Amino acid sequence: DDGGPQPEKHCGHGRGGMGEEVARKEDKRFITGRGNYVDDIKKPGMLHCEIVRSPHAHARVEEIDGSRAMDLDGVVAVLTADDLLEHDLATMPTLMDDTQDVLVNEKVKFQSQEVAAVIAEDRYTAKDGAEKVEVDYEVLDPVVDAKEALEADAPVIREELDDQEDNHIFDWDTGDKEETERVFEEADVTVEEQMEYQRIHPAPIETCGAVADWDPGKDKMTVHMTSQAPHAHRTLFSQVSGIPEHKVRIVSPDVGGGFGNKVPIYPGYVVAAAASYVLERPVKWIEERSENIQTTGFARDYDMTGEVAATEDGVIEGVKVDVLANHGAYNAAAQPSKFPAGFFNIFTGSYDVEAAYGSLTGVYTNTAPGGVAYRCSFRVTEAVYLIERMVKVLADELDVDPAEIRRRNFIPSDAFPYESATGWNYDSGDYEKALDKALEMADYEHYREEQKRRIEEDADKLLGIGISSFTEIVGAGPGKQCDIAGIEMFDSADLRVNPTGNAVLRIGVQTQGQGHETTFAQIVAEELGMDVDNIVVEHGDTDTEPYGLGTYGSRSTPVAGAAAAVAARKVRDKAKSIAANELEAAEEDIEWDRESGEFHVVGAPDRSITITEIAAGAYMNHPGSEEPGLEAVNYYDPPEMTYPFGSYIVVVEVDRETGEVDFEKFVAVDDCGNRINPMIIEGQIHGGLAQGIATAMLEEVTYDDNGNVTGGDFMNYLLPTAHEIPEFETGHTVTPSPHHPIGAKGVGESPTVGSPPAIVNAVVDAMSHAGTTHVEMPMTPDVVWEALDEAGLAL
Ligand code: CDP
Repeated sequence: DDGGPQPEKHCGHGRGGMGEEVARKEDKRFITGRGNYVDDIKKPGMLHCEIVRSPHAHARVEEIDGSRAMDLDGVVAVLTADDLLEHDLATMPTLMDDTQDVLVNEKVKFQSQEVAAVIAEDRYTAKDGAEKVEVDYEVLDPVVDAKEALEADAPVIREELDDQEDNHIFDWDTGDKEETERVFEEADVTVEEQMEYQRIHPAPIETCGAVADWDPGKDKMTVHMTSQAPHAHRTLFSQVSGIPEHKVRIVSPDVGGGFGNKVPIYPGYVVAAAASYVLERPVKWIEERSENIQTTGFARDYDMTGEVAATEDGVIEGVKVDVLANHGAYNAAAQPSKFPAGFFNIFTGSYDVEAAYGSLTGVYTNTAPGGVAYRCSFRVTEAVYLIERMVKVLADELDVDPAEIRRRNFIPSDAFPYESATGWNYDSGDYEKALDKALEMADYEHYREEQKRRIEEDADKLLGIGISSFTEIVGAGPGKQCDIAGIEMFDSADLRVNPTGNAVLRIGVQTQGQGHETTFAQIVAEELGMDVDNIVVEHGDTDTEPYGLGTYGSRSTPVAGAAAAVAARKVRDKAKSIAANELEAAEEDIEWDRESGEFHVVGAPDRSITITEIAAGAYMNHPGSEEPGLEAVNYYDPPEMTYPFGSYIVVVEVDRETGEVDFEKFVAVDDCGNRINPMIIEGQIHGGLAQGIATAMLEEVTYDDNGNVTGGDFMNYLLPTAHEIPEFETGHTVTPSPHHPIGAKGVGESPTVGSPPAIVNAVVDAMSHAGTTHVEMPMTPDVVWEALDEAGLAL
């Protein structure tokens, strides 16, 4: 082995390998309208499914009458829980071992829950039919607030569960409580802040949907569905339906954004499959926007109290956090089953902290189930928000510059691999380097001066500067630690080189817009010296791809990217023996040259051979010592996760009269180890920052006291537009992962994870001279104006 690609040295072999800005292969079909999404799938005889949803958040279903719907021309069936019970499909397991009704059996537990389904010849008739289904409800008192749900007189939502006498789901804790208490008692300074990470929704452009097609001739169920994890979904479908797994095919075609929303299985998929099975015709179910926001996996909804203990010089000694987590009506968080709070216990962040302790209580409420990893690795977003906000609170308490206080506490670059106080093994990092670069790019000192000037002059617009120096944790497995419903989180790649020298790479992960068809081809191009145009990447079809656990938590590059590199290296090993045969030399005398991408005889560089010539040799003149053909498979179980990081600096102008916040400067320095495609990374950063801004400034799923969703459509759930998004200045450092075959870490979610605290820190910073320590997200003008008013700064 030649040691793998080196940081920043691998650019420019010119074949589209590592570090080259290869244009996205998939864009040709997307920009010419040739994408193929679930709703584009049309099958002969296909029926359409529309779901009848509850207007109440908490109610007993007394009676369902579908007769008026059945009278409509074109309505084929009305399904209720009773019909599903006949096929043992009335309930389905969630990814956290709870049981959710597919169609409500007895009691509605959140508004818009699935009560019945109408199947019709076309979508309009199905919708008309759904409006004609009559449901009698006995309305019950709902509880939507997590604190109120724990009160003694709160209505019990999950009374059907044995031993469930209240709305409490679980308690979880991490770290060393006693040691942390000791550190806090002995500390010079302690600070405390309560903060909510509001309920938000991934809101992908494409909502969820499925086309289920039961073939009674082959006894085979094919489901085209919006899936971020087709293989895991195949296993679950088989387990729930009883159809043997080899007779289930899941196809996830082009997917219009997932962001964690398409990891769980939703009732609509199951209803479509059940209807197809019963009616023996293909059935399509496609969600509307409000159904997507109101019923599918939400994210966050953590009410957190953070505490930090430090010396008077601002050296952090201890961190404590207590969380109340609203999980909605079912425990349906999408995260590895051994981690009820996801990776929240990475809340010590980028800092070398002596002692830490975290506790969390999960609660049922009459709200939609969820807790998905929205562009994040299982609750790392909440953890990063907590610690990066607390560092700012401490800096203000001690009157130390927030950049300086970070510098005093960073895990030093020579301390890696580093084990955190809560047991995570960080692979590599150089936090100070990233911060220094960001400070320079942001012209930090200049803005600090300008901030002072505005305060002295009592200006109408205040300036705030916010920093976030976050650490991420991406690339789940290892399989022994991380699983979905018991399946270990490895991933896979299957590489086949054809006789004419081009190749097909099949991977176990499924892209939702991240550009895998390009970057995974680049990994193979780098490792085999092949031209990137000669490699095609296939994914998303369980009949043809190797088993994988799917794309979420930025795990594709750390896990399947590693599998692709290892599979390519296996092919390269075999290629060496074929090269020896072709060049009539001993195998020990053959050397692979990464620069030229060719094999040559040691000491005789002109006696060389390309991978295309080797491919021909593999099929037309294979050495007797080898099997014919040129292919390899790798199932990769990562030894550890990867820990990308970055420093973001945000400068905002806060209008004291209106509470409006304008972005003056937005600097993002990221480090994802060795970079495969800088242009795709740039796109990932831009998109993620936009979603971070959305979280900080605009988005929230809200409920009234009756459990009505008041932020459940795009009129009320404020998605950002180009107008709200500023210019970004991006930069990078490169700290390779020591255990990843190509030194790469994930990157897709860093900006969404890292930017909200930088933005909130900036708004708080504009008012901290007047004593403000926190402003809640989303920081709409009214929220900011209230904070200004409280600080005596409003005009
Ligand atoms: O799992 P997901 O694809 O969402 O996240 P990721 O592994 O962070 O990758 C997002 C995109 O960035 C993919 O196209 C990656 O191949 C690319 N990427 C890269 O070019 N270099 C890296 N070091 C990390 C990711």
